Amino acid sequence: MIAVTGASGQLGRFVIQFLLEKIPASEIIAAVRNPEKAKDLAGLGVQVRQADYNQPETLTNAFKGAEKLLLISSSEVGSRTPQHLAVIAAAKQAGVKVIAYTSLLKADTSPLALASEHLETEQALKASGVPFVLLRNGWYTENYTASIPAALAHNALIGGAGDGKIASAAREDYAAAAATVLLSPIKSGTIYELAGDDVYTLAEFANEIAKQSGKTVSYVNLSQDEFTATLERAGLPKAFAALLADSDIGASKGGLFDNSHQLSRLIGRPTKPYSAVIAATLQS
Ligand SMILES: NC(=O)c1ccc[n+]([C@@H]2O[C@H](COP(=O)([O-])OP(=O)(O)OC[C@H]3O[C@@H](n4cnc5c(N)ncnc54)[C@H](OP(=O)(O)O)[C@@H]3O)[C@@H](O)[C@H]2O)c1
Repeated sequence: MIAVTGASGQLGRFVIQFLLEKIPASEIIAAVRNPEKAKDLAGLGVQVRQADYNQPETLTNAFKGAEKLLLISSSEVGSRTPQHLAVIAAAKQAGVKVIAYTSLLKADTSPLALASEHLETEQALKASGVPFVLLRNGWYTENYTASIPAALAHNALIGGAGDGKIASAAREDYAAAAATVLLSPIKSGTIYELAGDDVYTLAEFANEIAKQSGKTVSYVNLSQDEFTATLERAGLPKAFAALLADSDIGASKGGLFDNSHQLSRLIGRPTKPYSAVIAATLQS
């Protein structure tokens, strides 16, 4: 039995899809904050159970009978450490044999502020005594393709990553890797640094959008303060704008680069090129 938290989210749904290709639905637990959002998964025969990171009493019940647990990191930045600690404690109490955790690429040395909660979770896993594996996911390519409509509207892709090389991958590829790990024998303490095979700068990303769309799109590099302020003016909440700008500055320092190709080796095929993710976005 394999349980997946955050199963109603974008990554979680892909993981469930990949698991369904290999094991019966009855052996999968979709642990979700709101079961109403996962009715479609229940319809497929997956066991949908409520698991709210903020309600520890829901967690132990949700993980009962699960041999393996995929802890998909929470989207509630700033609250994640206590939430993840609650998941780890509940998994231990429920007798889960191994926890896989979606961390951040090179969480222990990453210049991104986002790394701190991941590192705290990794440390808690190590201290828990429950066998674990770390899926240190790099950036989703979709984080950047989300800016395509604005880039086309303004003929400019803005960012703060400078000449930083970025090895992102599509969500689907990280999900395939998670499913592969969950379905294989796990050696506790294994750390996977997961990133895309192809590497780009944001200027190259902008050029690819321009090439495929036939429109002018130039990359405009901003300072951290300018980028934060611009994102705020575009309507993003202050904290989220600051986080995105910090992440781009981290990228300028190489924080989103990796050339170990562990992701493609795990999934047994090359990762989806960023040009293909751009193409899919332009067609949608
Ligand atoms: N590597 C990257 O580039 C990158 C980018 C963005 C995010 N991330 C991280 O990767 C995770 C998965 O990505 P994603 O694209 O699938 O994000 P997503 O679509 O936003 O999904 C996040 C999931 O977390 C669940 N969640 C949030 N708060 C919860 C709580 N209190 N209790 C239980 N579940 C809770 C959400 O539940 P609901 O469905 O009920 O909302 C949702 O299922 C994110 O949560 C974030 O930690 C990584």
